[in-house]
Amino acid sequence: MRNLLCKQLDIQYPIIQGGMGNISPVSLCIAVSQAGGLGQIGVGTSSLEVVEDKLSKVKEAVSERPFGVNIPISVHPDVSGVIELVKQYNAPVVSLSAGNPKPWIPSLKEQGVKVLVVVSTVSQARKAAQAGADIIVAEGFEAAGKNSPKELTTMTLIPQVVSAVEVPVIAAGGIGDGKGLLAALSLGASGVQLGTRLVATQEAQVHQAYQQAMVKANDEDTLVLGRSYGFVTRVLNVPYTSALYQQERTGLSKEEWLEYLNEDRHHRGAILGHLDQGHVNAGQIVGEIHDVPTVAELFERMMREAKQQHHQLHAFLNKEEE
Ligand SMILES: Cc1cc2nc3c(=O)[nH]c(=O)nc-3n(C[C@H](O)[C@H](O)[C@H](O)COP(=O)(O)O)c2cc1C
Repeated sequence: MRNLLCKQLDIQYPIIQGGMGNISPVSLCIAVSQAGGLGQIGVGTSSLEVVEDKLSKVKEAVSERPFGVNIPISVHPDVSGVIELVKQYNAPVVSLSAGNPKPWIPSLKEQGVKVLVVVSTVSQARKAAQAGADIIVAEGFEAAGKNSPKELTTMTLIPQVVSAVEVPVIAAGGIGDGKGLLAALSLGASGVQLGTRLVATQEAQVHQAYQQAMVKANDEDTLVLGRSYGFVTRVLNVPYTSALYQQERTGLSKEEWLEYLNEDRHHRGAILGHLDQGHVNAGQIVGEIHDVPTVAELFERMMREAKQQHHQLHAFLNKEEE
C-alpha cells in the first residue's frame, strides 16, 4: 500500500515520526526509517555540534532510506545554521514547526529538500501551502508537547485542512494504532505523524520510568499546562507536572513557568526518569498504549489493524438493509 505521499517521500508506509526536541534519539529515527516510515531528527534547542553528530550517524545508518530533520523555528537559536547542515548532509526532508516557515522554504526547495510544515489551523495551512510547503502536517490538540492556543482537535482540523489546500496532508495528534491510521485516512489525510506512540517503543531510548508511566496511564492522565501564558503544552500527569499545574494556578510569572518547562527539565524527566524533577510529554492517546514494542512490530501491527478494520467497515457499510 503506497499512496501518493509514500511515493513523494519514498517510504513504504504512510507513517512519519514527529520531531521530539532534544530527546529525539538517533536510534528512533533510524528504526522508523528502516521500518518503512520516515524517521526524523528533532533539533529542539540542540547545539549545531549535536545536530551534526546526529545527522552523520543517521545518514550512515539509513544509507539510501529517507529521513527528515524537524526544526522548531521559534525554539532553535540558529535556524540558518541547522539549514546549512541539512544541505551539507543532503537530508531529503525537513519539517518546520513552531514559527513562520515562509523565510526558510525557498532555499530548502532550491536544494531539492521536501518541506513539511506543521500547522494547527486552516489559515496556517493555507499560508504554508502558498509559501511552497510540499506537505502539510495538521496537528490537533490531542497531541503531546506544544500545542496551539486555538485548541482544534484532529477530528475537526483534518477535513478542513484537506479541503483548504491542494498538497497532501498528514494528520498528527491522537493517532496510536491501526484504527487511528484508518480514521485519519478516512478524514482525507494521506498519512499520519506519530509522537506519543513512538516514545513507548524499544528504540526510543527514553527512561523506563517514563515508558512505564505511559503504559499505566489512562485517558485522563494528560495535563494541559501554560494556558495562562499562551503557551499550551500537553504533558503526562506525573508528580512534577502535577505540581506545576497547581503552581500555575497560584500565580507563577511567565518567565518562571518557562524556566520550569525548559529542556533541562525535559531531560531530567524523560531521559533520567526523575518524574518528580522534570516533565515528560504525552498526548491523549496515551491511554491506549499498553506495551513497548519495537518500531517494526508497531508498524506491522498498525497496518494489519487498519486493514482488518477497513474490511469490517466495508462489510458493514455494504450490507443490504435487513
Ligand atoms: C517527547 C515529545 C517531544 C516533542 N517535541 C516536538 C518538537 O520538538 N517539534 C515538533 O514539531 N513537535 C514535537 N512534538 C510533537 C510530535 O512531533 C507530534 O506531532 C505529536 O506528538 C503527535 O501527536 P501524538 O503525541 O498524539 O502522537 C513532540 C512530541 C513528543 C511526544
